[in-house]
Amino acid sequence: MVARRLSPNQPDSFAFSPENESWAREEMAKFPEGRQASAVIALLWRAQEQEGWLSKPAIDYVAAMLEMPEIRVLEVATFYTMFNLAPVGEHFVQLCGTTPCMLRGAEDLKEICRERIGAPGEVSRDGKFSWMEVECLGACCNAPMVQIGKDYFEDLTPESFTKLLDDLAAGKPVKPGSQTGRVSSEPEGGLTTFNEGAE
Ligand code: FES
Repeated sequence: MVARRLSPNQPDSFAFSPENESWAREEMAKFPEGRQASAVIALLWRAQEQEGWLSKPAIDYVAAMLEMPEIRVLEVATFYTMFNLAPVGEHFVQLCGTTPCMLRGAEDLKEICRERIGAPGEVSRDGKFSWMEVECLGACCNAPMVQIGKDYFEDLTPESFTKLLDDLAAGKPVKPGSQTGRVSSEPEGGLTTFNEGAE
């Protein structure tokens, strides 16, 4: 686990877009009077979706909306690793390095990230990519895998991962899920049980 600190490069200000501002007000209204702080994670998440990461002005903005001390919102933002405390690339690669993925080739994928994107947390020169290693993302059956944006890409090899990055860089459509054609998390080669009567 790395230390979670705010980026030294901060924008001057943050404000929700009009659509996000009204969405946030609706979210806050779901909670009883005086309990609006319960919406803190939802509002931080929406701020991150708007900007791609959570800046200090965004954290302070959410604190002001919820009438919370800034330090309490900062505590939430720094505790949960789903919040990006520094800018990320257009395609943010979260690479699982936990044991099943490590045993199935995650180290090779990390090397590709280092060569192609840079050090963990750095944004590539073209702004298209950044990456970080994360703990198990719950897709161990199809290891090794990465999450990019909101999608999982599984059963990766150095070749298929390189092609995935190439396609994303070129703006081509990519297919989430197993990259070997495996259906869901069935055994490689197809079903081995409960297949009597299957067509
Ligand atoms: S170990 Fe990689 S998804 Fe679980």
